[in-house]
Amino acid sequence: MRPIRVVVLLSGRGSNFQAIAEARLPIEIAAVISNRPNAAGLDYARARGLTAIALDHTAYPDRAAFDALLAEEIERHRPDLVVLAGYMRILSPTFIARFEGRLLNIHPSLLPMFPGLKTHERALAEGIKIHGCTVHFVTADLDHGPIVIQAAVPLRADDTPDTLAARVLQQEHRIYPQAVRWFAEGKLEINHGRVNLKDDPASQSVFPTGA
Ligand code: GRF
Repeated sequence: MRPIRVVVLLSGRGSNFQAIAEARLPIEIAAVISNRPNAAGLDYARARGLTAIALDHTAYPDRAAFDALLAEEIERHRPDLVVLAGYMRILSPTFIARFEGRLLNIHPSLLPMFPGLKTHERALAEGIKIHGCTVHFVTADLDHGPIVIQAAVPLRADDTPDTLAARVLQQEHRIYPQAVRWFAEGKLEINHGRVNLKDDPASQSVFPTGA
């Protein structure tokens, strides 16, 4: 099977991108693109000898103009899959329509709980006992696309947003490479807004060891 071509979009640290890059997946990372020129994720990409591109969104008049250029840049690399890895900008509906079905995102909550920002603060404020993270296909409905895999993270009484974020991030680094692997192996099928995994649907929910 030929490796699939992946384009990664990020805005910052890039630890999810790093987890994917280091996971020995059947993929070729064709390009890493950041809307923030100083994103640490770009430095990591360069250090790995990958094509790293900065496209500064502040230089464009509006979202539509920037997203049109971004889409063109992505297409130049002929991706089978576009991976959002901490890409901190809302994408326009035109952009999403163009890549729908080959656009994945990771979100730091158990969707559909806590779409949007500050998910760890909100989880703590609600007093919920189980939090986590979700990999999903991106649709025009923000943070509500078909769910590929979720990992659960129990809250602790002394958690702060930072301690919780750190434990959720460990799980993100587990489930995002797994989701990309399934996509690359052609194991994901979207049916009526749900993702069916061709072999083992039980592995779409990840629990802490011992739970
Ligand atoms: C992660 O928490 C991810 O879930 C969210 O943004 C953060 C990105 O972290 N979408 P990193 O840049 O991958 O380290």
